[in-house]
Amino acid sequence: MPKLPSVNPFSPTFGATPPLLAGRDRILDRFCEALDTGPTHPDYTLLLVGDGGTGKTALLNVLEEQAADRGWAVITASASAEPVAKRITGEALRHLDQADACHAERTSDTEDLASSESCSPCSLLTVLGELGAVMADSGKGLLVTVDELHAVDRDDVRNIEAAIQIITRRRQMPVAFVAAALPVVEDTHLDDSHATFLERCSRFRLGPLDPDETRRALREPIIKCGSAIDDDALDAAADVTRGHPYMVQLVGFHSWQMREDPGTPISVTHASAGALEAEAAMVDQIARPIWKRLSPMDRRFLVAMLPGNPDSSLADVATRLGRSVQYARVYRRRLVAAGAISPSENGGVRFLHHAVRVRAEAAQRQQ
Ligand SMILES: Nc1ncnc2c1ncn2[C@@H]1O[C@H](COP(=O)(O)OP(=O)(O)OP(=O)(O)O)[C@@H](O)[C@H]1O
Ligand SMILES: [Mg+2]
Repeated sequence: MPKLPSVNPFSPTFGATPPLLAGRDRILDRFCEALDTGPTHPDYTLLLVGDGGTGKTALLNVLEEQAADRGWAVITASASAEPVAKRITGEALRHLDQADACHAERTSDTEDLASSESCSPCSLLTVLGELGAVMADSGKGLLVTVDELHAVDRDDVRNIEAAIQIITRRRQMPVAFVAAALPVVEDTHLDDSHATFLERCSRFRLGPLDPDETRRALREPIIKCGSAIDDDALDAAADVTRGHPYMVQLVGFHSWQMREDPGTPISVTHASAGALEAEAAMVDQIARPIWKRLSPMDRRFLVAMLPGNPDSSLADVATRLGRSVQYARVYRRRLVAAGAISPSENGGVRFLHHAVRVRAEAAQRQQ
């Protein structure tokens, strides 16, 4: 008798690699092509930009796997209390130690660094240069990834940019670089007149998955686990996610859990109950933290956006608030940076997550 499917395949956890990485084939193909071509390929240095939950970390993980599968050294770093340049230097030294243990003699430069714990741009440049050379000798390369780049200190970012710029661009060494950041990075690190490296990286925007990819992301993991989902249930589940990758995992997960018997296909009833559960989780995990950080005026702005569906013009919002368009523009900028809204075409605004709209509706009812 075939085994009944029992393990839920979905991964509604930030940073978790999904059971199926949908809609990212083009980026993956281009990155693999870049690894195989070398530093002259425009996608050898990449910047992934997307709102929370669009799958930046998940994609970084998969890109790292691609490099590791080719025998490359991989150094991963993320914004934290410790300077990122220092972490990369430390990791590179560790890789050099391993390489030493195999054969090559370490130069006196990097031996000094190993004992000094230094993290100056010069030391980062030295160790990356040396590790790049070791990897190049063996026909491989080094991939450096930095997650949450928007939260990395400006001087720290400049140090990293300067080192990669020299190693990869100027010296053409096989050291590839991928960073991921929230869109706010475009007004901060990308706007830094002292450093143009990031601006010149290939930039990929991670947006919502299209409807076909959304259905695939839901259906394939279910089928792979030996279970099934009815066609109308799949359409309903895909619709409610609006293509948001985190929501795809939530809806998939909860629809799966709604069945008493995992041997029966997921029906519309299961999908609808799963969607409700998923929407509640989105409000808790995405909308509530955003809402908590907003000022009273930010919140009034969001409530004034409610009549527009999906878009509101800035002029309409300003009128509802009884303020000038110029005044509304300041709040639009603040709310975009807070991850609550996104600018729509023709200068309007729309809710970035349906869950934030739901939270604003709740606030309106309480008024
Ligand atoms: N392409 C995809 N297809 C299906 N699910 C995905 C995809 N990308 C990410 N996910 C899922 O979406 C969720 C969010 O992904 P991830 O943590 O990578 O987002 P993020 O952009 O890094 O968010 P944050 O900005 O908050 O760090 C995870 O549960 C992940 O498994
Ligand atoms: Mg992330």
